[in-house]
This record gives sequence, C-alpha cells and structure tokens, in this order.
Amino acid sequence: MSDAPIYFTSDNAAGMCPEVLQALIAANDGPAAAYGHDPLTQALEAQFAELFEYPVTVLLVSTGTAANALSLAALTPPWGCVLCHADSHIQHDECGAPEFFTAGAKLQPLAGARGKLCPDALAAALRQKKGDVHSVQPSAVSLTQATEVGSVYTLDELEAIGAVCRQAGVGLHMDGARFANALARLDCSPAEMTWQRGVDVLSFGASKNGAMAAEAIVVFDPGLARELAFRRKRAGHLLSKTRFCAAQLQGYLHDDAWLRHARHANAMAARLAHGLAAVPGVTLSAPVEANIVFCQLPEAVLSGLQAAGFMFYTGRWAPGVARLVTSFATREDEVDALLAEATRLAG
Ligand SMILES: Cc1ncc(COP(=O)(O)O)c(C=O)c1O
Repeated sequence: MSDAPIYFTSDNAAGMCPEVLQALIAANDGPAAAYGHDPLTQALEAQFAELFEYPVTVLLVSTGTAANALSLAALTPPWGCVLCHADSHIQHDECGAPEFFTAGAKLQPLAGARGKLCPDALAAALRQKKGDVHSVQPSAVSLTQATEVGSVYTLDELEAIGAVCRQAGVGLHMDGARFANALARLDCSPAEMTWQRGVDVLSFGASKNGAMAAEAIVVFDPGLARELAFRRKRAGHLLSKTRFCAAQLQGYLHDDAWLRHARHANAMAARLAHGLAAVPGVTLSAPVEANIVFCQLPEAVLSGLQAAGFMFYTGRWAPGVARLVTSFATREDEVDALLAEATRLAG
C-alpha cells in the first residue's frame, strides 16, 4: 500500500462512483434546456415516483444542508419549532441554515438513545405550550435515517414516530443523507421507510454514497411542492445546469448502483467493527448498523493510528472516542491495514 493517508473521516471524502462519473460524461454530450427543463431532469421525477411507489415531486439541490433547510422551511412557520435529536446534523452542523431558511423558527433538541428520537418524549414535547402565544409552536419533527451516530431506526420505530406526528398534526421530515445505508441495513423498500411511515418530506442524499454534489428533496405531501420550488430558487439552489445534478442521480440509481455501494460501505464498517472489537483495550461504543463506527481507543492506539496516516475524527466526544466512517470506495485492504496497525500499537 502507498503512504497516502487513508480516509475514515467521512463518507464524503470518497470521490464519485463510476456510474455517476459515466452519467455525467454522457450528460455533457450537447446542449440541453436549462433550469430543469431538460429531458434528464424531467425523466428523473418519474424514476423517483417508481422507486418510491408514490407520485412524488423531486427538487434537486447540491448540498444536504440545503435539502434539510428548505424542507423544514416548507413545514414550519417562522414562529414554529422543529423537534429534532440533540445530536442531529441540523442542530450541530448546518450553521443555523434551518433557522435562516425558516425565517427564525426554533430547533428544539431532544435527548434519545443512540441518536434516535423517542416517541414518548416526542409526544410530550409536542404537547408543551400548544396554543400559547408566548411560545414557539411545534410544527415539524426531523429525524435522521441512518442517524449521525450510525444507528438505524427500525420500521416499527419510524411507525411510532409517524403516528405521534400525525396525532399532533405536525409534519415529519427525514434527513436521509445516508438513506441508502439505512435502506441496505433494513432491506426494505424506500416506500416502507418513508411515506408508509408518515414521512412528508425526505432529504434523499447521494453525495456521501457516490455522487459529486447531488441531493434530492423528495416531497410526499403534494401541498408543499409549489412552495418548495420558489424557496429553492430564492435560496440560490436552482442550478441552471440542473441536468448534471439529474445525471448524477440517474447514474446513482441505475441498476441499483446506490444500494450496491451502500451495502459495501456497511460491510466495510462491519468488518472494521468486528476487527476493532478484538484489539486489546478497544471497545465499540455501540453496535454498528450502517457505515459509521464509534469506538473508544487507548491513547497510544489513537495517536499511533493518526501518526501512521489513518484519518478519522476525535475530540468532539469523550477523550479517546473516535468516529470512523466507511464509504463505497473503502477497500478491504484499507480496513485490514488499520486493524493490523491498531493490533500492533495495542501490543
Ligand atoms: C446527517 C447528515 N445530514 C446532512 C448532511 C449534509 O451536509 P452537506 O450540506 O455538507 O452536504 C450530512 C453531511 O455530513 C450529514 O451527516
């Protein structure tokens, strides 16, 4: 192996998958109508409708932050509040974009084991100060599938949250930056993981699993579609050359490439977790359900791995806790090299 650093920092450290790259090259052959009026973009909506078994509206954007913030803006008035997990990306990693695009709605972070919202705590929070003009009004719930800590909501858990939202009359948004990894884990259909569980809007991520910069806002509530089109343009996310965004998603979905890549990323994380659990002094923080591994490493192992060129995040959590993320591009020999080095350092 070369001396180049090996990336376990994030799945978006990987490049594009071959299917996306090929689709981009093909889309570059000649001119096409701008702003989504091209044949590729028009065909994509029908493709998503078939995939989700539902007449969805699809709006393409180039970042997950835009997909999340615009989706939430459509679900929430400025005096509303979005209930989300305390560890969620919208709460921690979007620089206030949801608050900005909702024109000031508040995020209300809730605790919950393993990065997941708890239906009972959610129901209690949704009842608080309902109708009280002095308080922001719960208007939406956002959950992440797979979660920021790499856990995956089961279909029953999603069902329970969907029921709480319906009961309270609030919208349900799913941050699916790692939608494919969750779907691969649950081995269910996209419909079963979304609208059949009460999801109104989905941020369908692709960039982390092989696209260059393509995310789709998938709208299941037809009442939100028109507004979202204007919000996207106003936010500067209507790409004039939308066909290249559509091409990425077309390549991504073609022949189930997205699911193949997600299964591979998940398998690499499982291999990593299995191997790390056997290294003396290393403990896994939680079972690995998708493509993220959290573990506690002895200091010598942690710093030794970093010195040896293995890249991963630490420092955000308790001392010694490391987050390692695998992708469609992670190779078995890269995982095995990390395990061999960890074992050597632990010895
Ligand atoms: C859970 C989650 N949501 C959304 C995003 C999208 O972020 P970005 O705006 O960087 O594409 C990320 C990326 O790290 C993420 O982990």
